[in-house]
Amino acid sequence: MLDVECSRRPSRLEFHDLSPELGDFRRELVTGLSAARKSIPCRFLYDARGSALFDRICKLPEYYPTRTELGILRQIAPEVAERVGPGAQMIELGGVNSLKARILLDALDEPAAYIPIDISRDHLRASAEAIYAEKAGLSVLAVCADYTQPFELPEAPGGGRRLGFFPGSTIGNLQPDEAIGFLATWVKKLGPGAAMIVGVDLRKDPAILEPAYDDAQGVTADFSRNLLVRANRELGSDFDIDAFAHRSRYDVPSGRIVINLESLKAQTVTIPSDDGSIEIRFAQGERIHTEDSYKYSLEGFKTLASAAGFRPTAHWTDENQLFSVHYLETAEG
Ligand code: AVJ
Repeated sequence: MLDVECSRRPSRLEFHDLSPELGDFRRELVTGLSAARKSIPCRFLYDARGSALFDRICKLPEYYPTRTELGILRQIAPEVAERVGPGAQMIELGGVNSLKARILLDALDEPAAYIPIDISRDHLRASAEAIYAEKAGLSVLAVCADYTQPFELPEAPGGGRRLGFFPGSTIGNLQPDEAIGFLATWVKKLGPGAAMIVGVDLRKDPAILEPAYDDAQGVTADFSRNLLVRANRELGSDFDIDAFAHRSRYDVPSGRIVINLESLKAQTVTIPSDDGSIEIRFAQGERIHTEDSYKYSLEGFKTLASAAGFRPTAHWTDENQLFSVHYLETAEG
C-alpha cells in the first residue's frame, strides 16, 4: 500500500490568469451597427445570462449536437486512450463545462495534466478545482486566456503526448479560412508528436438542422436577443427587445446556419456614450447578422485540417451521421 502511495505522481493545481481583454463591447457594437450590413460579433453572446441560455440550448430536444457528441466520446474513449498513450497532457480549448473532458480523462492511461483554457475566470476556477479534487495524480493547470489570441502554455508535468481538445463544434463559428488559420496556430503550439480532437457538426438535411437553431420553446431566440438585452444593461442602450425577431436558416451552398436579428418595424435605437450618444436607425425588415455556424462533411473537414498542417488520422460519427469527432496529428517528433 505504501509503495502505491509513494509511486503516485505528485500533482498540482495552478491558475494562470493571463488577464484576457474582454474587448470593448460598446466600440464593437457601434462599429458593427454603423456598417451598411449590420452585425454584432458572436463572442458577445456569452455573458452570464447568455451562458445560462446556451446551457439550456444544449438540453433542448431539437439541439442534437451536445448529446450526440457526448455519446460518440463515451463510445470512442478507449480507442482514443489507445492512440494517445500514457501520461498525456490534455489541453482543452474552452473547458468551463468539463463534462466532455472528464469522459476522456477517465479513459486515458494515467493522464499527467489537464490544461483548460477559458476566458470565463470564475467558472474556470470552480471547474478546475472540482476536477482536481476528483482525480488523484492529475495536475490541473488552468489558464484564463482568450484561446484565439497568442499566449504561452504553462510548463506541464509528464513525458506523454500533448492532446488538444476542442469539442462542441465551436470551430463552426469561424469562417473556413479563419478556421484553417486557427488550427495552424495549434499545430505550432502543440508541437511535433501531438494530437488534437475536434468535434465538428456534420452537413445534413435542413429539416434536422433548422429546428436545432430555432427551437419550439424559443430558447435560441432568447439567446440571440440576449445581445440586445446585454447592450441595454451594460451600455444603457434602449433596444426594444420584442421589436427584434430571431431569424435562422440553413444556407446549403456554404453549409452554414446563418442567424440574424430582424427589426420588426422602422425604429431608432440610442447607444449612450460620454462623448455624445449614437443613434442607430433600422428600417422595417433590416437585419443584424449575429452568428454563422458552419457544418462540414467528413472529407471537407479533413481537407480543412490538412490545409492547417494537421494529419487527419481518424474520425468517428454517431450511427445517424449527425456529428463527427476528428483525431488530428501533428508531424512525428
Ligand atoms: C457554441 C458555436 C457550437 O453553433 O451550435 C447554438 C452556438 N448558437 N445555437 C452552435 C449556437 C445557437 C453553437 N456553438
